[in-house]
Amino acid sequence: MRSPTVPVDSGADKQARAIESQMTNAERLSLVVSVIGVTTEMPTHDKRIPPDMAMSVGYVPGVPRLGVPALRMSDASLGITNPGYRPGDTATALPAALATGASFNPVLAREAGRMLGREARERGFNVLLGGGMNLVRDPRNGRNFEYLSEDPWHSAVLAAEAVAGTQAEGVISTVKHFSLNCNETNRHWLDAVIDPDAHRESDLLAFQIAIERAQPGAVMSGYNKINGVYAGDNQLLLNDILKDAWGYAGWVMSDWGGTTGWECALHGLDQESGAQIDTMMWGQEWFTHTLQTAYQEGRLPRERLSDMVRRILRSIYAVGADTWGPTPAVDMDLHHHIALETARQGIVLLKNNGILPIPAESAARIAVIGGYAHLGVLTGTGSSAVVPPGGYAASINLGGPGIMGSARSLFLLPSSPLDELRKLLPDATIEYDPGTNPADAAALARRSDIVVVFGIRVESEGFDLPDLALPWGQDSVIEAIAAANPETVVVLENGSPIAMPWLDEVAGVVEAWYPGQAGGLAIAEMLTGVINPSGRLPITFPADLRDTPRPDLSGLGAPWGTPTTISYREGSDVGYRWYAKTGAKPLFPFGYGLTYTSFAYTDAEVSGGDTVTMNVTVTNTGAREGADVPQLYLTGVAEKALFRLMGFARVQLAPGQSQRVELTADPRLLAHFDGGAGQWRIADGAYRVALGRSTTDLEAHAQVQVRGRLFGD
Ligand code: BGC
Repeated sequence: MRSPTVPVDSGADKQARAIESQMTNAERLSLVVSVIGVTTEMPTHDKRIPPDMAMSVGYVPGVPRLGVPALRMSDASLGITNPGYRPGDTATALPAALATGASFNPVLAREAGRMLGREARERGFNVLLGGGMNLVRDPRNGRNFEYLSEDPWHSAVLAAEAVAGTQAEGVISTVKHFSLNCNETNRHWLDAVIDPDAHRESDLLAFQIAIERAQPGAVMSGYNKINGVYAGDNQLLLNDILKDAWGYAGWVMSDWGGTTGWECALHGLDQESGAQIDTMMWGQEWFTHTLQTAYQEGRLPRERLSDMVRRILRSIYAVGADTWGPTPAVDMDLHHHIALETARQGIVLLKNNGILPIPAESAARIAVIGGYAHLGVLTGTGSSAVVPPGGYAASINLGGPGIMGSARSLFLLPSSPLDELRKLLPDATIEYDPGTNPADAAALARRSDIVVVFGIRVESEGFDLPDLALPWGQDSVIEAIAAANPETVVVLENGSPIAMPWLDEVAGVVEAWYPGQAGGLAIAEMLTGVINPSGRLPITFPADLRDTPRPDLSGLGAPWGTPTTISYREGSDVGYRWYAKTGAKPLFPFGYGLTYTSFAYTDAEVSGGDTVTMNVTVTNTGAREGADVPQLYLTGVAEKALFRLMGFARVQLAPGQSQRVELTADPRLLAHFDGGAGQWRIADGAYRVALGRSTTDLEAHAQVQVRGRLFGD
């Protein structure tokens, strides 16, 4: 059964068929390859790119005689530029995707998607490689900061909004990296092993729901293998599941350097990306001469080449990438505000012994220590890097082995938390110490009333983290500070869980993620109570790596090029579900986050039937306006424990204000995927549910009957 939400035989399909039928084979073949532009890392100009074309990560020539536009692609996980391609170009630098995840706010995700679309159009880019949505399975994955969460429903809802926002601007978006690209360790040689049904219930379910909701023009396959077969060459994943079972009508592009042979075309890949990188990686381009030869010799069926081309054309027409009018003016102030609002709503207050907020009239002596807080805020590195307006506050290339080594950098965005705190606390005396030396930092802490110490960690595409620790001895600095003055708040700028050996010794902890180009302001506003923290953790913070499915990460530290197998033995019990299954206690649970107000839940009503619905009244019982995120969880079926997020909402409430909220589960979240039947199976029975402030803080427990059945694919 095909998903009812993916339209087939639309006007776009008809137009694609009509145009494709008029093409020559040379024109068809030209559309199935993208080439990468000149960067500092790839200095040779490829002759296939016109000399006056602004450089970017992907270029596909158009077919002007048939009105088919050239495809011009840019990365877009956190903004539009990639350092190196267009020297001098800058764009709005958003916070880490995990901050969007922590906002639990689909409206904000859509706004950011629209922002990306507008800034793309301004530069002539009609394809954005956004929509990063791999599930956070491993706290060491170097790219977690580019993803939204560890939960399929949460990731799907937010990714869909981001994609829909971009496409509403006439710019095609991807979702990526399909699928199970959940570690960076030797990613080109990584075999991600998982139970196939569990895959359908987790990462693939996230992609399926996002694709249904947003209909992205393209899907980017991952670098890794899944159960022994490369993602870009994967008949099961691309042809059987994505295209046949889900009825996906757009095109599949490879990741850059992720096409491993011309035969990928037979197994569902429609476009080879960044073809020159395949020459570096695998010794040749596949979808140029090699594919042409296969076509001429009849090994690539004629109909398949037409299908590849029609899928690309269809997305162009469906999104309207061929009918751009004049480029609308881009309001960079509005875009700065979107970056600021994402940071404001994404920052998570993890611990507060009453030290926060610091009142605006405070005349305290405040020490600000570490994290280059006098210059700016940290951001992640790799293909998602964005040079903000005005340029980086500082940039240091860190280097490293492998193809991403030369890109790994410490980038600081110019939004200084120190400067912003000074503005918001005019009567306080604020001194800064770089935090490079524990003794210096402790001396300043001792003579201060309050300490704000920053902990930062560079995380990067191409590299997994060795462990959960803060690097460069920052833990010793924080410990020395806390020993000197327990009135200490730790502010973290990072993209994955952090171990906190000093947690009991400090008075406050703030998870600011990579907070984007307005991050310093958002941090200062949160510390001083200008805004009320409302972010919730979209990932579980482990107390110890031994509590996670992979205490040891295989292949970590092995030389670049070493074949690596990672077993995702947790299957669909990703993140909080693993903790629910094993009973281990996390350091901080999924869904958790403190506020300066308080909320109460009353009059919960739960109904069953084909799915579960909960209605509940949320009331702000405190003295400040704030946002709450009620979360509906499945906690068990009959006698069996089974833990899943089934719904969430973000509600903004004035003091004393109430709102009735309805949360309804997608039936697939109540089901198991039955691989034998190729369908979802809901067992008839009593389903236990609860409302949560996090996965470990549950109330309004209820039990309802759900009708058993087999449905969908
Ligand atoms: C990344 C993709 C990115 C592509 C193009 C790859 O290294 O995995 O996410 O879109 O490069 O920059």
